[in-house]
Amino acid sequence: MSIFVFLGAPGSGKGTQAKRLSARNGFAHFSTGDMLRKAISDKEQVGLNAERFIKNGELVPDAVMIELINSALGSLSANTRALLDGFPRTLPQAVRLDSSPQTCVTNAIYFEVPESVLFERLSGRRICKNCGEPFHVVFRRPLVQSVCDKCGGNLVQRPDDEGVVVKKRLKVFADQNSALLDYYGTRGKLTTIDGNRSAEAIEQTLSGLLS
Ligand code: AP5
Ligand code: MG
Repeated sequence: MSIFVFLGAPGSGKGTQAKRLSARNGFAHFSTGDMLRKAISDKEQVGLNAERFIKNGELVPDAVMIELINSALGSLSANTRALLDGFPRTLPQAVRLDSSPQTCVTNAIYFEVPESVLFERLSGRRICKNCGEPFHVVFRRPLVQSVCDKCGGNLVQRPDDEGVVVKKRLKVFADQNSALLDYYGTRGKLTTIDGNRSAEAIEQTLSGLLS
């Protein structure tokens, strides 16, 4: 199994690119944020436990997240190419992934985007309530207002995309990020890409890197 992880701030484009690459290049996409939001909407226990952390812009405890990702990756076949979007977020999560030969990370890709751009992306983001597809009021408008191009679901704003929570999420990210960059950097597994370009240009870079 090849495991690629997408690192980057909230709004850096991890989900957008992971969805494009899984649709066009056959990657299996695992977004821990999408998994948690689905668990909340399905009223599963893991979601109900995680909800207060997400609402406050805090990280869900490592033990919960490690169990969630292990059960998602556990059933994959040996030739799967998996994209992890939003995991790992902390050093213990990164160490845990590498502790099994099955889930050892092949390459970590860091999306570098200036903070001023992140605010603009997050405040204008709308996601499909049904499938999680991200849209934007300026940068990626749906064909029909408030309707998902992919599945026809309703587009909504994420509760954690409101001002105060965004600031908290960006701080939490900044607190954890350098340890993760060091971890993958010292192992020769880190690639940094310029995430402040068009989605098409970034996808082209990623397609080359991940082929
Ligand atoms: P999660 O859902 O993972 O949120 P996040 O990491 O904060 O990242 P985002 O989804 O906000 O951003 P993104 O990089 O995917 O950007 P997107 O492509 O949507 O996690 C949510 C919460 O769950 C966390 O706060 C935490 O509580 C919990 N959690 C999840 N995983 C966890 C873990 N491992 N450990 C502990 N807790 C965890 O793009 C953003 C917007 O920009 C969109 O509108 C998009 O259309 C637009 N856009 C994208 N690319 C471009 C571009 N190139 N140009 C212009 N606009 C663009
Ligand atoms: Mg995302």
